[in-house]
Amino acid sequence: MPFQTGMSKVFAGIFVALTVSIIGGTIAMVILYKMDLSEANPTPRPTFPPTTTELPPVMRLPKSLVPESYTIFFQPHLYTRIIEEVNVTSPNQTFLFTGNSTVHFHCVQNTFSIYLHSRDLTVSDPLVRNEDTNERIRSIVKHHGDETDFLEVQLDDVLEAGGNYSLFLAFRGEISDYLEGLFLSTYVEGNPEYEDDPNAERCLAATNLQPTDARRLFPCFDEPEMKAVFYVTIIHRRDTTALGNAAVQESVIIDDEWKRTRFHVTPRMSTYLLAFTVSEFTSVESSYERVKIKTYARPEAIAAGHAQYASSITGKILSFYEKIFEINYEQSKLDQIALPDLNPSAMENWGLVTYQQGDLLYQEGVSSLLHKEEIAKLIAHELAHQWFGNLVTMKWWNEVWLNEGFATYMSDFAVNAVEPAFNIKDLFVMDNLHIAFEEDALASSHPLSPPAEDVQTTAEITGMFDAISYSKGAIVLRMLADVVGETVFNKGIKMYLKAFKGENTDHNNLWDFIQKAEDENRETKNIAELMHPWTNQMGYPVITINTTTGEIYQKQFLFNHSVESSLSWKIPINYMSNVSASARVWLYATGPVKYEEFISNKGEWILANINCTGYYRVNYNQENWQRLLTQLETNQHRIPLMNRGQLVDDAFNLARAKLLDVTLALNSTRFLSKEKEYLPWESAIRNLKYFVLMFDRTEVNGPMQAYLRKQVKGLYNYFRNYTDNSTVPEDHSSQHNQINAIQVACSNGLPECIEMAQKQFADWMNSNNTNNIHPNLRSTIYCQAVAAGGKKEWEFAWNKYLSSRDTSEKDQLRHALSCTRKIWLLNRYLEYTLDPEKIRLMDVASTIFSIGRNVAGQALAWNFIRAHWEYVSQGGGSLLIAGVSSRFSTQFELEELERFQADYDLGAAYRTVSLAIEQTCVNIQWVRENRDTVLQWFEGETATVEW
Ligand SMILES: *[C@@H]1O[C@H](CO)[C@@H](O)[C@H](O)[C@H]1NC(C)=O
Ligand SMILES: *[C@@H]1O[C@H](CO)[C@@H](O)[C@H](O)[C@H]1NC(C)=O
Ligand SMILES: *[C@@H]1O[C@H](CO)[C@@H](O)[C@H](O)[C@H]1NC(C)=O
Ligand SMILES: *[C@@H]1O[C@H](CO)[C@@H](O)[C@H](O)[C@H]1NC(C)=O
Ligand SMILES: *[C@@H]1O[C@H](CO)[C@@H](O)[C@H](O)[C@H]1NC(C)=O
Ligand SMILES: [Zn+2]
Repeated sequence: MPFQTGMSKVFAGIFVALTVSIIGGTIAMVILYKMDLSEANPTPRPTFPPTTTELPPVMRLPKSLVPESYTIFFQPHLYTRIIEEVNVTSPNQTFLFTGNSTVHFHCVQNTFSIYLHSRDLTVSDPLVRNEDTNERIRSIVKHHGDETDFLEVQLDDVLEAGGNYSLFLAFRGEISDYLEGLFLSTYVEGNPEYEDDPNAERCLAATNLQPTDARRLFPCFDEPEMKAVFYVTIIHRRDTTALGNAAVQESVIIDDEWKRTRFHVTPRMSTYLLAFTVSEFTSVESSYERVKIKTYARPEAIAAGHAQYASSITGKILSFYEKIFEINYEQSKLDQIALPDLNPSAMENWGLVTYQQGDLLYQEGVSSLLHKEEIAKLIAHELAHQWFGNLVTMKWWNEVWLNEGFATYMSDFAVNAVEPAFNIKDLFVMDNLHIAFEEDALASSHPLSPPAEDVQTTAEITGMFDAISYSKGAIVLRMLADVVGETVFNKGIKMYLKAFKGENTDHNNLWDFIQKAEDENRETKNIAELMHPWTNQMGYPVITINTTTGEIYQKQFLFNHSVESSLSWKIPINYMSNVSASARVWLYATGPVKYEEFISNKGEWILANINCTGYYRVNYNQENWQRLLTQLETNQHRIPLMNRGQLVDDAFNLARAKLLDVTLALNSTRFLSKEKEYLPWESAIRNLKYFVLMFDRTEVNGPMQAYLRKQVKGLYNYFRNYTDNSTVPEDHSSQHNQINAIQVACSNGLPECIEMAQKQFADWMNSNNTNNIHPNLRSTIYCQAVAAGGKKEWEFAWNKYLSSRDTSEKDQLRHALSCTRKIWLLNRYLEYTLDPEKIRLMDVASTIFSIGRNVAGQALAWNFIRAHWEYVSQGGGSLLIAGVSSRFSTQFELEELERFQADYDLGAAYRTVSLAIEQTCVNIQWVRENRDTVLQWFEGETATVEW
């Protein structure tokens, strides 16, 4: 699955770093029971029928049984169309699903009990058979009904090591409303004017099982290492199509109502990858060599060609991976389906990849050109999982980074191969490095590979799907690839995939094969030793280079400078100067270590971490900083593009951690008045965002806005010919930067920008439905026009939101509605989030998030969240907290947060509240210490401008 779950692109832009990590050193792990699994004795024989209610020994399944195959029947009784009969008051619909499964397994250790997982299912009719003798073993089913989700089948006779057995169970459950297990999704098909017609509503059923929801679908050994093959049959309504992981073997009509679709056997895989859908969707086909690729969506969307873009790149991406991994995709078909509802935004089920429709569909002339980038990245991410994750899977969820870090890392190459004009490689640094840096600088972060014992409950497992696993995982792999060279790295991962095909691994297995490739290349680096600190420790280092003495040392980079740390890393340092080309040295110890190379003899500057290939920050002595900033202001092109962005990012973050003066950080933005490139601007905008959040409720706001207007004016004018005519430049990074220019200019009150936004929006309002605003610019212009406008603009946008059938347009409008400065409109909008007819549940959290990020809406959103926590948190409690607490910087706000944590049932969001509390403490202190300096600096920079 991709990172930034449940968040559409429009929202992703304003979403700086949502820090949600469940595990971490400070949180006590709930390990309920301990058991020595190596114990040779079988589980004690229960009295039969059992009288005790003894709890199972650990949260993990015993390793006595090894599943080999499942034969499963599923029958969702759902109707896709609701038929309203005259006399029936409630809709004619049913959410029941029934089924049965037979799992064949091998016994490796004597046992009197079969433990497997099951949640929210009614399980009956157990039948245990000795497959070798065909004898039946008397058994009874017992639910533990606790957090383990264990279903115990207690046996009258021992299962013996070496024997083969099978277990049949019938089950029934309910199709979920909450996007988990087998869930319901609805949409409206047909003419939008019939929106109110219940006959236009359509239902479908789809599964979403990662990480621990397979157990909601059928009783199973629901752990990633318990791989098996699956023979699946779906019994579904006659007028629907059933899709599964594997190709259809046979689909027959069995009576007036039902159809039976039997699928070929799946590859050997983990339970969380199982998937099926039952819907009326249609598809577009784009076969590639042996693989039949079909992209499914609402019939209307298919007919309108919205799946065309996705369909056109999928085969190319698959082919790219097949070539670099030298292993063919395992199946004869690959289905992708654009679901009206799904959280996260996509899931890599083997052979049946599911997507939130807005993230897969593209509408020519309506969707932003930049949306193609997101679609390509997402498909590339999910397809990379067909190898990293599906074919070779992490042993346990504590190392989900082996799935997610790799998928994130590889997707970058795939997109670059398929869409070179996207220039994705540079953006990769922005996307991942900064997000990882942000989260990993907190004392509450966690290592890429924490001990397996620390990750046991579903909440702990879900918590592993965070920026560390995705972004740090990818960045650390990129660093290793840079150190050993891409050729060696790729050779290593090819060997690794071949060796572990169909199996499970941990990070040592990966290092072994990179080592093999390295050895074959006659290099001598010890990969496991180099990588150990990066995977087994949390955090990352900042190195300090003193160009006066040539001395260099490292320490852990933490925002909270009062936390003591003695961690150290093995750091590859690429560097250059204004008189010499790039070279590399290593820092193995804490230091200081002296390097002649780093002594500046004639006042030249030295720059380290060229192109940001290393996962660390760099600090310098004052003189060197000064020389680097002077270089930026005189001719920034002497500094590589990525480093122009990184210097700004490092300066701001070092200042935040009190390792550098805040004025030096602010000085690092001076060169922007002449800078036209995206990366440095984006980096500065993200960093200044913190200043905006801390100060936009204070007297700093005036001079701060004046400074930003002054800096952005050049950039705004650079794109002005495009913007005024509502057109866009050719290349993607300029397109991104044009949007930045408008955003910064308008939100800081550059009059020509606001006029432009109002004019373009008014033209649309007065035009009888012809919208001439370029799709790229819509999101920004809608937001700025709503912000500058009043009731008329807001209501126009709201009506457009209601009537639009296009998901990305809907998202843009939904975001724009949160931009208003009118309190009463924001209040009305908050109320609307309680009505699923107005705002779908899956959109509630991101909507309130945006309102909470608006300076005018923050306090309203905070009250609202507390008043309606139970409902609104369903859509993503962590996101709500992150949005609303982002400005918290007073003692009062801190106390409110603490009270909130104590009084509310926060579930998975508890951790986010802890992080928010930690962040608020940091903010309070930061504001206290920096407010005067920052105010003076902005006033000094703008002494000659009006504000
Ligand atoms: C509907 O109600 C009418 C009048 O009460 C009755 O005559 C008819 O049989 C009902 N139809 C069904 C299908 O129940
Ligand atoms: C629902 O509608 C179907 C199809 O018209 C019908 O066969 C079924 O009996 C109805 N069920 C209920 C509970 O009304
Ligand atoms: C399992 O379910 C399928 C489909 O409903 C049914 O045909 C089959 O008889 C069931 N198996 C057993 C053993 O009940
Ligand atoms: C840094 O990146 C640029 C642009 O991608 C590239 O041209 C340059 O060779 C890279 N420098 C090093 C030292 O790898
Ligand atoms: C660099 O070294 C000089 C000379 O020893 C010292 O005065 C200065 O404080 C050092 N700067 C840093 C940032 O370590
Ligand atoms: Zn993923």
